[in-house]
Amino acid sequence: MKSFSPFNGPIWALGALLLARCGHSKDTSTGAFNVLDFVDPLIGTANGGHVFPGATLPFGMAKSVADTVGENQGGFAYDTSIVTGFSHMHDSGTGGSPSMGNFPIFPQLPCPGDELNNCKWTSPARGVQWVKDSPKARPGSFNISLENGIHAEMTVSNHSALYRFTFPANSASSTTVSNGSASAAGPVILVDLIDLPQSRSKGQASVDPSTGRLTGNGTFNPSFGIGSYNMYFCVDFKGAEIRDTGVFINNSTNTDSKTVAVGAASTTAGSFVRFFAPANNVITARAGVSFISVEKACANSENEIPDYDFGALVNNAEIAWRQKLEVISIDAEGVSTDLQETFWSGAYRSMISPQDYTGENPLWASDEPYYDSYYCIWDSFRSIHPLLTLVDPLSQSRMIRSLVDIYRHLGYLPDCRMSLCKGYTQGGSNADVVIADAFLKKVADIDWDTAYEAVVKDAEVEPSNWDVEGRGGLQSWKNLGYIPTDDIDLLGTGTHTRSISRTVEYAYDDFCIAEMASRMGHPDDYKKYLQRSSNWRNMFKANQTSSINGVSTNFTGFLQPRYPNGTWGFQDPIFCSPLLDFTSCYLNPQGHETYEGSCWLYTFYVPQDMASLISTLGGPEEFVSRLSFLHNSGLLYVGDEQSFLTVYQFHYAGRPGLSAKQAHAYIPSLFNTSVSGIPGNDDSGAMGSFAVLSMLGLWPVPGQDVYLINPPFFKEISIQNSATGKVATVRNVNFDPNYEAIYIQGVKRDGKPWTKNWISHDFFSEGGLLEIELGTKEGSWGTQIEDLPPSMSPYRFSNTE
Ligand SMILES: *[C@@H]1O[C@H](CO)[C@@H](O)[C@H](O)[C@H]1NC(C)=O
Ligand SMILES: *[C@@H]1O[C@H](CO)[C@@H](O)[C@H](O)[C@H]1NC(C)=O
Ligand SMILES: *[C@@H]1O[C@H](CO)[C@@H](O)[C@H](O)[C@H]1NC(C)=O
Ligand SMILES: *[C@@H]1O[C@H](CO)[C@@H](O)[C@H](O)[C@H]1NC(C)=O
Ligand SMILES: *[C@@H]1O[C@H](CO)[C@@H](O)[C@H](O)[C@H]1NC(C)=O
Ligand SMILES: *[C@@H]1O[C@H](CO)[C@@H](O)[C@H](O)[C@H]1NC(C)=O
Ligand SMILES: *[C@@H]1O[C@H](CO)[C@@H](O)[C@H](O)[C@H]1NC(C)=O
Ligand SMILES: *[C@@H]1O[C@H](CO)[C@@H](O)[C@H](O)[C@H]1NC(C)=O
Ligand SMILES: *[C@@H]1O[C@H](CO)[C@@H](O)[C@H](O)[C@H]1NC(C)=O
Ligand SMILES: *[C@@H]1O[C@H](CO)[C@@H](O)[C@H](O)[C@H]1NC(C)=O
Repeated sequence: MKSFSPFNGPIWALGALLLARCGHSKDTSTGAFNVLDFVDPLIGTANGGHVFPGATLPFGMAKSVADTVGENQGGFAYDTSIVTGFSHMHDSGTGGSPSMGNFPIFPQLPCPGDELNNCKWTSPARGVQWVKDSPKARPGSFNISLENGIHAEMTVSNHSALYRFTFPANSASSTTVSNGSASAAGPVILVDLIDLPQSRSKGQASVDPSTGRLTGNGTFNPSFGIGSYNMYFCVDFKGAEIRDTGVFINNSTNTDSKTVAVGAASTTAGSFVRFFAPANNVITARAGVSFISVEKACANSENEIPDYDFGALVNNAEIAWRQKLEVISIDAEGVSTDLQETFWSGAYRSMISPQDYTGENPLWASDEPYYDSYYCIWDSFRSIHPLLTLVDPLSQSRMIRSLVDIYRHLGYLPDCRMSLCKGYTQGGSNADVVIADAFLKKVADIDWDTAYEAVVKDAEVEPSNWDVEGRGGLQSWKNLGYIPTDDIDLLGTGTHTRSISRTVEYAYDDFCIAEMASRMGHPDDYKKYLQRSSNWRNMFKANQTSSINGVSTNFTGFLQPRYPNGTWGFQDPIFCSPLLDFTSCYLNPQGHETYEGSCWLYTFYVPQDMASLISTLGGPEEFVSRLSFLHNSGLLYVGDEQSFLTVYQFHYAGRPGLSAKQAHAYIPSLFNTSVSGIPGNDDSGAMGSFAVLSMLGLWPVPGQDVYLINPPFFKEISIQNSATGKVATVRNVNFDPNYEAIYIQGVKRDGKPWTKNWISHDFFSEGGLLEIELGTKEGSWGTQIEDLPPSMSPYRFSNTE
């Protein structure tokens, strides 16, 4: 998904910000390899990447960072200047409006004239500039300095955040307090009942005057979905004596009241503690959060951070991240530090979401894991989940279980979900792909019968609101075999756009169901869904031509819209190409027949039957020429997820070398280590996982037990399967770090020749060695019909040379 938030300028803006960072170095002096030295969480925090760069555990619920004014979907963005708060929950890389950022705390220097009303209470008025180059990010911690001299450090446990605020030594002003003792006035720390999208409908904040504990709740809206959610907080302090406490509404403070209730977000309100000057200039704030209750929020922080031990928490987080990442090892000889950093940072970003809210789901009682922030599966099914199956199959299993449990309790699998709410579906019911992918790869501990029931329900039973689950137009889908333009749909309501992109996605989703059906003993279902998976043909208009600026592209035959009566409609095949002609191609009611991409692009989305597609488009040579044109003409933008598979589809025409070439054309030119180093939104790590899988060399075709073989960007890579303990190694022979020799000449699997240009998951679950011999020119390896990846119908063309 791409952004359509009001903050956004043109998201395809090409004048990428080249923001340089200083102080960005790694300690290689000891020579010991620490994978975290190669993770830079600030990558993708500028120019619309929306990456969350703050402190989080792998898949953790608490995610703390400094929140800035601007494009703050991920809280902090590098192309901003003002910090207005420090908050404890975020999403990463998402489009839509900003997510969460509820209940920010904000420290201020002693109020001018020692007068509370002289402090600034509302956001953004209270905001302070951050010191250029001061943001430091590392898995598990985030530090930043403000121009007023306050230095902030933060780290997390799973459901709580710990902040250490260091105040400038000279900030205390001498004052005399009413009880007669002379003391120094100290900082004020407030909590604000706001969230980043300013969605609050009501909220309540309190302060306990004896302990300074700040608690409260609020009701908020999800950032890309329907409904609302409640959240609770509990903040405790350590390090300074309490001088007084109170509440504020807009800029008025009251130290007699200890609780305040507010409605809509237009009014700012919260509670605060005013301290005496801290002995060593440091005040530590501990923030627990919960979706259940204030008591749970307090219990979370008390249990997880009993002694405010900042260093121990940072250390735990780093250990957790190293464990996640160190299942991968690379021999990086000759490869630039930048490329290594692109790789490891991408892997890191793939494990920020979905977030583990097990024990925090107020919607139903269950012993199953509960994950949230599937934001969105349309973005994540293509690369994030296949990567997790490789590097963290145990978490992938828990996620699939949570998807199945969501189906059990809500009646449908989600396509998008955040903050306990249903999110918007962008195309098909692509959880079907995630589930089939996991099924084929034998992800453990899943109730496959219920999972199967869930995917069949997507295909058979239209929900009343198919904007947030399931599929729309199912009557037409079953009767006409396509989603028509101007569909008449009496079964449910939803946004009647994207007829072409929905058709190709529904077709592939049905193929994924067919794969499960055939292996689970449902032969009739298998036949039915296999047949429906050919429905893409019904929208293929064989004589449709296409030109760009009046010049024919010389390719004929594209997907085109169709009315319910079978008559063809028209959408210019290049329309919705981000770099050529893109207006209103989002999820808006005025949207068009394709979603965030052109007919040109969607015509390639037939991963189930590439043999048939290639014949339909005129044979392998014509196909290769069309696919190359797609990549080289501005028709395709690799910063949107539907483009990922097209990078590797040359394999199906017997030209695997061109896939490798295409991958190198995009990395590092569009995926690199600058703060604007990803093309567009990261979408919970989609761009990161694309880079990782591309550099690993084996590209998973999502929803199939197929990895397309490409040479890794490293001399050698290994992945240890954390479920089986087995190690799979891919080794480049004649490795060339200048990437001139990127063409496979031959492959050996465990010492024996391997001529297929693909391999299946048993390589990773059972372990083994793949040796890839490289050369500077395309070779004959992987080019013959019998070498090509699986396809529904047989390849009907002969040798492709
Ligand atoms: C932030 O500061 C803490 C405390 O000094 C330190 O442990 C941590 O490594 C720092 N993090 C970064 C990213 O610099
Ligand atoms: C955080 O939660 C994960 C499960 O998502 C668990 O495996 C891990 O042990 C927890 N970490 C800590 C520090 O409790
Ligand atoms: C928030 O707290 C107030 C005061 O305790 C309570 O009346 C209200 O029901 C709470 N709201 C929610 C959603 O829990
Ligand atoms: C005055 O108030 C402060 C803060 O509550 C307390 O630390 C101090 O002991 C009090 N002094 C007297 C003389 O009561
Ligand atoms: C609070 O005061 C500041 C100036 O100190 C002002 O900019 C801001 O608009 C005020 N906020 C509200 C909600 O009135
Ligand atoms: C707070 O300030 C906002 C913005 O100026 C205003 O709309 C709102 O009515 C104020 N609320 C109160 C309670 O004064
Ligand atoms: C294109 O094919 C359609 C049938 O699919 C036909 O009705 C139409 O006349 C053809 N157009 C041209 C220009 O040949
Ligand atoms: C298509 O072919 C025509 C005639 O050969 C040529 O002039 C035109 O440049 C070609 N279009 C493209 C995009 O190459
Ligand atoms: C089919 O429906 C479209 C759209 O309503 C209409 O323009 C067209 O004339 C119809 N064609 C036939 C053959 O009825
Ligand atoms: C890094 O990636 C960004 C975003 O894709 C791109 O705009 C920029 O040109 C790249 N920088 C380099 C040095 O390749």
